[in-house]
Amino acid sequence: MVKICCIGAGYVGGPTMAVIALKCPNIEVAVVDISVPRITAWNSDQLPIYEPGLDDVVKQCRGKNLFFSTDVEKHVREADIVFVSVNTPTKTRGLGAGKAADLTYWESAARMIADVSKSDKIVVEKSTVPVKTAEAIEKILTHNSKGINFQILSNPEFLAEGTAIEDLFKPDRVLIGGRETPGGQKAIQTLKDVYAHWVPEDCIITTNLWSAELSKLAANAFLAQRISSVNAMSALCEATGANVSQVSYAVGKDSRIGPKFLNASVGFGGSCFQKDILNLVYICECNGLPEVAEYWKQVIKINDYQKNRFVNRVVASMFNTVSNKKVAILGFAFKKDTGDTRETPAIDVCKGLLGDKARLSIYDPQVQEDQIQRDLSMNKFDWDHPLHLQPMSPTTKKLVSVTWDAYEATKDAHAVCILTEWDEFKTLDYQRIYENMQKPAFIFDGRNVVNVDKLREIGFIVYSIGKPLDAWLKDMPAVA
Ligand code: NAI
Repeated sequence: MVKICCIGAGYVGGPTMAVIALKCPNIEVAVVDISVPRITAWNSDQLPIYEPGLDDVVKQCRGKNLFFSTDVEKHVREADIVFVSVNTPTKTRGLGAGKAADLTYWESAARMIADVSKSDKIVVEKSTVPVKTAEAIEKILTHNSKGINFQILSNPEFLAEGTAIEDLFKPDRVLIGGRETPGGQKAIQTLKDVYAHWVPEDCIITTNLWSAELSKLAANAFLAQRISSVNAMSALCEATGANVSQVSYAVGKDSRIGPKFLNASVGFGGSCFQKDILNLVYICECNGLPEVAEYWKQVIKINDYQKNRFVNRVVASMFNTVSNKKVAILGFAFKKDTGDTRETPAIDVCKGLLGDKARLSIYDPQVQEDQIQRDLSMNKFDWDHPLHLQPMSPTTKKLVSVTWDAYEATKDAHAVCILTEWDEFKTLDYQRIYENMQKPAFIFDGRNVVNVDKLREIGFIVYSIGKPLDAWLKDMPAVA
């Protein structure tokens, strides 16, 4: 029986390994992590991450050919294939701080593999890493080798949170990069055989190591670029009276462009887009390509601009101050169908409103209060560096409350900001919400989920990103 071990039981390691175990009953899969609470949760009925369909997959294989453990060394030692799916956050200190990927976790995993291994292994980069990381990993593994043969493969993950199980069941493609040597090709074939249990052969792409590593960074940069492109257009739509949904639809109908990922919003979030683009920018700079670096930097600049623009719009519309006004925040996760708040635009929007001393009442169906409090007290990039966590400042604590009900959050509020596109926000009883709010009652829809005309009929002053402004907003000072 082939044995697989995955180091890192996070948003990627957990679901990917659960699906491999489900689709390959003849393979034993162990997912290991240094975090005891995470492994305990994986072994309980309350999994550590919320992902539609995940519970079901885990239930079918856990205890049969899928195991979660903190005994990292044992499972690595026994495995034929070791996936490394640890976090690769942005560096917060030292050389490349604020841009380069922090490979501390990766390097320590690689050193541990070298130390404990007693047999040949295929080591698979599952984490998103800078191009050429495999070279460094190879050096760590081979310099410590006791005659053991390690083959390094790059097998970046393309799943999207919220649809992870669907994406893993039916991936657009599986990408495997390896050395162009006989040993490298054999390792590629071994991993291909795993995926071939359920992925059609023409969806499995094989490349050299550097192409695979770079393709993941490129894919995330292209995806984020589409969002920033449509968000840049949304600002122009508001200035001209065009409607961004109509523009996106018309543009997306061009088969060369396609309709996906063209929704204007308050900005992209999630653990990957920003960090991977910053990393791409850093790699370009290190390779003497400042113009290319500058080009990709703009994707992040527009994202920051969009979040600032939203906050400015809220404040400017409400007589240029939100001080001591209650603002309901509907949605805190970075997108619907996940409880993940890493780099969610809600953090920047809430911090912006808190900067003007708003009182925030926050509701998200999947995010717990302590998570929101942690997020709002953290410095940029610190979320993936647990040691830097600080308690919420007393002032922030006083201004923020978290509720478990949208109606409670909006009661007596001066304004509602919708920051995540949860389906339930489309069907709220907005008449009831309006009646219980202060007047004039404002709705700022950062995800284009509400029916603007209906809400205006009820009496709300509505702002929806990239949509024609109503008379009230037009009379307010220009927002930049
Ligand atoms: P995560 O933070 O949810 O999980 C990483 C896990 O690795 C943590 O539980 C941590 O305790 C563990 N870990 C760190 N060092 C370890 C060590 N030395 N030994 C054992 N366990 C260790 O991160 P996530 O979101 O799963 O991301 C992992 C990688 O996958 C990152 O490089 C990310 O960029 C990439 N990725 C993430 C996607 C996502 O949607 N979250 C999608 C595609 C790629």
